[in-house]
Amino acid sequence: MGVWVDTDFGFDDLWALLLLRTFGVALDGVSLVAGNSTLDNVTLNALGARLAFGLDWPFFTGAAEPLNRPLETAERVLGPRGMQTRGAHLPEAPQETLPPCGPALVAWLEENEGPREVLALGPLTNLARLAMDAPGAFSRISRLVWMGGSAGRGNQTPFAEFNAHADAEAIKVVAETGVPFAIVDLEACHQATYGEADIPTGMPEPLGVLMGGYLDIAITRGRDWMPIYDPLAALVFTHPEVLIFEPRVLDVDTGTLETYGQTRFERAGESTVSLATGVAPNAARLCLDGLARLAV
Ligand code: RIB
Ligand code: CA
Repeated sequence: MGVWVDTDFGFDDLWALLLLRTFGVALDGVSLVAGNSTLDNVTLNALGARLAFGLDWPFFTGAAEPLNRPLETAERVLGPRGMQTRGAHLPEAPQETLPPCGPALVAWLEENEGPREVLALGPLTNLARLAMDAPGAFSRISRLVWMGGSAGRGNQTPFAEFNAHADAEAIKVVAETGVPFAIVDLEACHQATYGEADIPTGMPEPLGVLMGGYLDIAITRGRDWMPIYDPLAALVFTHPEVLIFEPRVLDVDTGTLETYGQTRFERAGESTVSLATGVAPNAARLCLDGLARLAV
């Protein structure tokens, strides 16, 4: 059984996917969700990456909007495609209508035995819809690993991390299912960073300029280093010893105040929700190796 990835296809999402392939993790499906950019642009990025890097996983389309609020993308930070570059962008792939992820996820969950693990790298809208529409199938997820939330400050607002802020209601729906829910939050990601000198040389383009564009998110804010978001969560499947998880009780703010999307993690003896509280010092190096090995 492979892993299913749900993604809002920014650069760090692409990095995570390539890292999984580099380290030999099979993927059974990749579903798309609006987040870093609109669903149309997320789809452009996914199909362009498939063309550029020969990605042979089945792709599926998903939610263009959060459960019950207007879409707020990261385009103000990442630009119109939700993926900054210092030069070339991903190639324009031919238009294609992707099949919907709901039925495909139900089939994947119901028709297979063995572990069915999901890695979510964007807003949790697709997974929340699955939990609401097909609770029996959803309960067959053996583990959901999510890059999202923050036990400290946010990065979309002072209170909320981007994926959480995009659809806080979806987090609640998913957490209430009781499916094992392992969260790699901003605090963990800040323990795995990279700078200019870490960008591998010789990677197939446009990875170099895209990785520079992702780093520029930090540089334009006066920092020399950028946290590694989605690839760190992907390491759970390639190098499970790198992250330590502890049980937590999760509280999500779905109110109407400025704290919307804030995630709080209370210590707990046991819980179906766990938080990455330990990150090995070699985590960033492993994430970088996931791309460096593509160098020609
Ligand atoms: O806050 C970082 C997260 O939001 C990453 O998954 C990034 O790709 C965006 O989706
Ligand atoms: Ca993402």
